[in-house]
Amino acid sequence: MNWSHTALTERLDIPYPIIQAPLAGGPGTPQLAAAISNAGGLGSLAGGYPQPEALRQAIAEIRALTDRPFAVNLALGGAAPGDPARLARARELLAPYRAELGLPPESPVPPEPPGFEELLDVMMAERVAAVSFIFGAPDTVYLDLLRDAGIVTFGTATHLLEAIVLEESGVDFIVAQGAEAGGHRGTFIGHPEQGLVGILTLVPLLTKHIRVPIVAGGGIMDGRGIAAARILGAAGIQMGTAFLACPESGASPAYKALLSEGSEIATTLSRVFTGRVGRVLRNRLVNELHPHEADLPGFPLQLFLTEELRQVAAERDLTDFMALWAGQGCHLSENRPAAELIAAWAGQAATLLGGEESSREPPAAEPVAQKPPVDESPDPACFI
Ligand SMILES: Cc1cc2nc3c(=O)[nH]c(=O)nc-3n(C[C@H](O)[C@H](O)[C@H](O)COP(=O)(O)O)c2cc1C
Repeated sequence: MNWSHTALTERLDIPYPIIQAPLAGGPGTPQLAAAISNAGGLGSLAGGYPQPEALRQAIAEIRALTDRPFAVNLALGGAAPGDPARLARARELLAPYRAELGLPPESPVPPEPPGFEELLDVMMAERVAAVSFIFGAPDTVYLDLLRDAGIVTFGTATHLLEAIVLEESGVDFIVAQGAEAGGHRGTFIGHPEQGLVGILTLVPLLTKHIRVPIVAGGGIMDGRGIAAARILGAAGIQMGTAFLACPESGASPAYKALLSEGSEIATTLSRVFTGRVGRVLRNRLVNELHPHEADLPGFPLQLFLTEELRQVAAERDLTDFMALWAGQGCHLSENRPAAELIAAWAGQAATLLGGEESSREPPAAEPVAQKPPVDESPDPACFI
């Protein structure tokens, strides 16, 4: 089996079927995305929360560091309805922690969340190579526009029904997000618990019933996991936690240290940071607010309410109040440059599967050029 030649590498013209998961909340930097694309994988930028101008700026920063393809991730699902009682309760619950950090008791008024169409407009204008979505199935109208612009699309599914809906919508690839995964759960149909399917179960299930190529994500930390996912039929491997401790990652030093310490520090599912359920390392805020989770507002209001607390904690490297997103494989994370990790995993996967280290030219020898824009795509200015 040639581990590295798949529908994904073919479509994006990249050497390795390794995708860096979008890493919102600080760890995902333009430097990390560019390093991964330069090393032969597909770097990603988390684009769900920044305002359009900040997104444009981050894309420009990646382009200054690489001429290879990368993906931008967008959040679907909209904003949960504002509820004044929940807002007041969240403020009351967060006030003591804010006081501990010397912040005024009241969290700042949350800004308007960025409009989805505005962000999509940036994708069209910038002609990024790929756009990935989480928290839903994109409208077919949007996917048609992206396809016409030559942009490859990914949806995120946590169970079979979501994958069927995504396939119907017309995405090019589906990321199967296993229960092991760090960060937000992508579940958009049913209760979050119904989307907690392990990757060993989810990938064969989706490859059996879905025609669109599947990308495996969740708990994959090295070449062994990559080889296993390929054997299960995945055309790509999306890895997040494995890159968190890299020098190019924006995770703080204490966050990086906690990842590999593992031991008694286990991951858990929590919605205290953003209003959406995600996998994090347990810390003081998670433990103490756990009994009140049901009282908190939804996404992204809770995200904005905790923003200042998380930011100040990250600046001071105080892990008690940081959102320490991490997958179940975190103890295997390594503080090594992303390119080194990818080269090591490629060698491991090739050894295990008996294939080549890469089906393409070595990344450093011949940079992969961005696909040229397609002329017949709509004028981005008229997109919305
Ligand atoms: C710090 C962090 C931030 C994440 N942010 C996003 C995000 O913005 N969008 C998204 O689709 N997935 C996000 N994820 C989830 C990943 O897409 C992916 O499902 C996960 O990293 C795969 O599992 P692993 O962490 O075990 O490799 C995030 C994961 C982590 C660890």
